[in-house]
Amino acid sequence: MTLDEIISARHSVRAFDPDRPVTQEQVSAMCEAARLAPSACNSQVWRFIAVTDPEQRRRICARGMGPILRNKFMRAAPLIIVGCAELDIIANKIGTKFTGIEYYQLDMGIAMEHIVLKATELGLGTCWVGWINEDNLREILGIPGHVRVMALLAVGYSTETVSPKRTRKPLRKIVFRDGWGAPFPE
Ligand SMILES: Cc1cc2nc3c(=O)[nH]c(=O)nc-3n(C[C@H](O)[C@H](O)[C@H](O)COP(=O)(O)O)c2cc1C
Repeated sequence: MTLDEIISARHSVRAFDPDRPVTQEQVSAMCEAARLAPSACNSQVWRFIAVTDPEQRRRICARGMGPILRNKFMRAAPLIIVGCAELDIIANKIGTKFTGIEYYQLDMGIAMEHIVLKATELGLGTCWVGWINEDNLREILGIPGHVRVMALLAVGYSTETVSPKRTRKPLRKIVFRDGWGAPFPE
């Protein structure tokens, strides 16, 4: 697949085949894609927990979600990748001190999207899940206090029957030329 094909094929999958596992090789390939991601000061704050154990997945789905929206589709996902950020890495903190920008959040987003794109190339479906209960996830997974849980990725083979909708703003609404608000010719 070309990069364009991967980007076009990627969409949020919310229907998974619970009986078709993701192999260890696939997990390694996805995590390798994350490992090669850029990060502020090359601080590599990311840590990932690849959860396949049915009991742990059940706990995550039962208690690891945010209120109201429970992301029930996750129960069928054979793999949940938990994206964590080590906060006590000095290289990442120094920049934030000067600019106020939380670089670890950018770094996590990039690395996790590398996982998503690699998964797409491998024929796997994914869905980002940011509506989480961080404290419960920390308890379920034994994650220490200086580590933030940023988001989860549900991963597995899609059983979707309808094509996804791609609702996106047009380029002219999101890109400016040379200054804020100046139209960018399409
Ligand atoms: C940081 C982040 C958090 C998200 N959290 C959730 C979530 O908790 N539940 C969910 O069903 N989708 C979640 N999504 C998926 C978005 O709803 C989805 O990406 C968006 O609607 C665009 O659709 P597409 O991914 O199919 O292109 C999240 C996406 C991102 C990037």
